[in-house]
Amino acid sequence: MLRRIAIFASGRGSNAAKILEYFEGDSEVDVALIVSNKNNAKVLDLAFEHKIPSRVLSKKVFYNSDALAKHLKSQKIDLIVLAGFLWLIPPTLIEAFPDKILNIHPALLPKYGGKNMYGINVHKAVRRAKEKRTGITIHLVDEKYDTGKILFKKSLTVKPEWTAEQIAEAVLKLEHKFYPQVIDKLLKEA
Ligand code: GRF
Repeated sequence: MLRRIAIFASGRGSNAAKILEYFEGDSEVDVALIVSNKNNAKVLDLAFEHKIPSRVLSKKVFYNSDALAKHLKSQKIDLIVLAGFLWLIPPTLIEAFPDKILNIHPALLPKYGGKNMYGINVHKAVRRAKEKRTGITIHLVDEKYDTGKILFKKSLTVKPEWTAEQIAEAVLKLEHKFYPQVIDKLLKEA
């Protein structure tokens, strides 16, 4: 059975690119839609290059209407994949897609999660705390930041001399390798 994914992203979209690459030619999984909250997000170029429909949303539509949920339903989306999407998901969308919204966080949750824990902030905090290990967490999305059910974690050793940028680079490699695999497993098990 064909499964349809929508990717939500706000930024450069390197995870989105890896997900697209992974499912290219897969007859069972289709990246059917890319949604962004920024009209200059790099991920929109990616959508154009891959001929995938994309939508840019205003905060007003995202939080105060059910237009997005209706659109996703009309497009028969099975799974929403957040890949660097910075807005908190509203309850209406969570109710419309129960246990069908996935996020990746660049640290080992529950540590280093929450509102301002994104991008380099996460890795700076990991470095400041002199953590010996960090990694990725893939989890279901609930009404708060980074607190949904954890589905997958992978860790790596932080070398003491690493800068926050070097930690970010190592973590991103894990994201690129494992996010598509976890999505695949989830879709094909469903
Ligand atoms: C990744 O580090 C991801 O863990 C986080 O946002 C970042 C997105 O990077 N949720 P990219 O846009 O996929 O390159």
